[in-house]
Amino acid sequence: LVLSEPRSDVLKNVVVVREASIGDEKQILTIRNDPKNYRWFFNDFPITAEEHSKWFKKRLHHANFFTLVAEVDNCVIGIAYLSEFDGATPKISISIKSDFQANGIGSKLLKELVLRSTSVGLDSVFADIRCSNVSSIRFFSRNNFITVSQDSKRTGEIHTEVLTLVLKLIH
Ligand SMILES: CC(C)(COP(=O)(O)OP(=O)(O)OC[C@H]1O[C@@H](n2cnc3c(N)ncnc32)[C@H](O)[C@@H]1OP(=O)(O)O)[C@@H](O)C(=O)NCCC(=O)NCCS
Repeated sequence: LVLSEPRSDVLKNVVVVREASIGDEKQILTIRNDPKNYRWFFNDFPITAEEHSKWFKKRLHHANFFTLVAEVDNCVIGIAYLSEFDGATPKISISIKSDFQANGIGSKLLKELVLRSTSVGLDSVFADIRCSNVSSIRFFSRNNFITVSQDSKRTGEIHTEVLTLVLKLIH
């Protein structure tokens, strides 16, 4: 019988933050398709391996510098990335494997992504979070993001209340 480890044990192991690589594809899909994570996404359903593979390979070609994973004992436990590069304020997305949440891993990934964004001269980054995703709103607020607006986003017949939080980067 293998009992799940208490959360504090996670911290005893070294958490490595690095750029994503091709071998991470499946582990990242597992995190993406965890219902505890995708319930918060705007596409709140699992995606296919094919769809994910296409998305992931495109990212590795065009935005690898802004695609980070956190790893413990050679297992990917979180991903953070930027998208929507059309303006000076790209969008940030972060997902941590559910057993590993609330151990500071999201903050660690966010910190590195912010450093990289600052280093290339980006003005700011934003996060669009469902209003019901209270822990995520608290997470971004604690990491100095400021709420700039609340909107109703429509996907087909469904309306979702969304909070936009922005972090101004300091150069
Ligand atoms: C939101 C999310 C990215 C945050 O990542 P995380 O790794 O859980 O975040 P952190 O651990 O850095 O911080 C979260 C909480 O853990 C606490 N924490 C941080 N370091 C800690 C540590 N070493 N030990 C215990 N708790 C810790 C923080 O105080 C924070 O608590 P609070 O905000 O309730 O006060 C993650 O929970 C997640 O993947 N959620 C589902 C997907 C999602 O909603 N993503 C956001 C949309 S893009």
